[in-house]
Amino acid sequence: MDSGKRFKIACVGAGNVGASAAQYCAEMDLGDVVMTDIAEGLPQGKALDLTQAGPIRGYSSHVTGTNDYKDIAGADVCIVTAGLPRKPGMTRLDLLEKNGRIIMSVAENIAKHAPNSTVIIVTNPLDVMTYLAFKKLGFPANKVVGMAGVLDSARLRAFVSMELKVSMKNVDTMVLGSHGDDMVPLPEYTTVSSIPITKLMPKDRVDALMERTRKGGGEIVALLKTGSAYYAPGASAARMAQSIVRDEKQLLPCAAHLTGQYGLSDVYIGVPCVLGKGGVEKIVELDLTADQKAALHKSAGEVREGLKGLKEIGIL
Ligand SMILES: NC(=O)c1ccc[n+]([C@@H]2O[C@H](COP(=O)([O-])OP(=O)(O)OC[C@H]3O[C@@H](n4cnc5c(N)ncnc54)[C@H](O)[C@@H]3O)[C@@H](O)[C@H]2O)c1
Repeated sequence: MDSGKRFKIACVGAGNVGASAAQYCAEMDLGDVVMTDIAEGLPQGKALDLTQAGPIRGYSSHVTGTNDYKDIAGADVCIVTAGLPRKPGMTRLDLLEKNGRIIMSVAENIAKHAPNSTVIIVTNPLDVMTYLAFKKLGFPANKVVGMAGVLDSARLRAFVSMELKVSMKNVDTMVLGSHGDDMVPLPEYTTVSSIPITKLMPKDRVDALMERTRKGGGEIVALLKTGSAYYAPGASAARMAQSIVRDEKQLLPCAAHLTGQYGLSDVYIGVPCVLGKGGVEKIVELDLTADQKAALHKSAGEVREGLKGLKEIGIL
């Protein structure tokens, strides 16, 4: 990734989240965007539509669609959203087998056609699919990262802003752990212009916002009835792609491969990461309370259960 070069972002999966990520990447002029999907015509149609929005929105990204993985050649970043979304009543682990098989084939194709890319996995169950992709891609761990914490943190930021009626721009937070009911929001790291929210609202409201964040995906699934959230997930993946291609070194919560940090090894889980042209360039270790550490380990235990499930069906 030389400075001054035109970057290329491949969106593998051109469904709701993939197309939303492609749109945000184009809007941010991160580079050229290629969408690929197994559904014939879908990526081509959405790409043409996004291209026609360009003159109005004023971006210069070229957006193309394809069913042929050859067209992702030279991608700097691949955003993988190929797979089924969670349906009402379906747990994330229900998705394990179907999405596991999809990720296997996607990983094989990325390894073949875009071997120098950094891969952002979005497909659920997130932490398990990111680990599977890491194993099947054969890339170094820093080049394979999962998107969940940016989304979960954005949800919490939005809820805090709605609760306190303050600008979302002033709210900052860091949600760790696995993507799902076992995520680990951190109230003392949740601030409004540097003021911890624990000083701005009573404990029961803090707890309620943390709980709403934990159930944030399910709340949208229940409202939509078909499919799941896609604007904020697409924006979150695009934000990560931005930090990587522009080498911004943003500190973001991402699912990263741990090798002893937080007392955990050989598992992907959400932790604070510096994202730059080298992918995950650094994992930051926070000083967690005993309860938070226990919650992170519980979260990792859930991810390991998923990995065990993949082994049992012979995918991993
Ligand atoms: N990590 C997160 O925070 C987060 C947030 C939202 C959604 N998701 C997950 O992202 C995934 C996509 O969600 P969505 O709403 O875009 O679903 P969607 O059904 O709208 O799109 C999925 C697309 O994947 C395509 N696809 C299936 N198999 C493929 C393959 N082998 N190669 C290429 N494309 C393939 C489908 O044709 C479809 O167009 C789901 O697993 C969902 O649970 C994760």
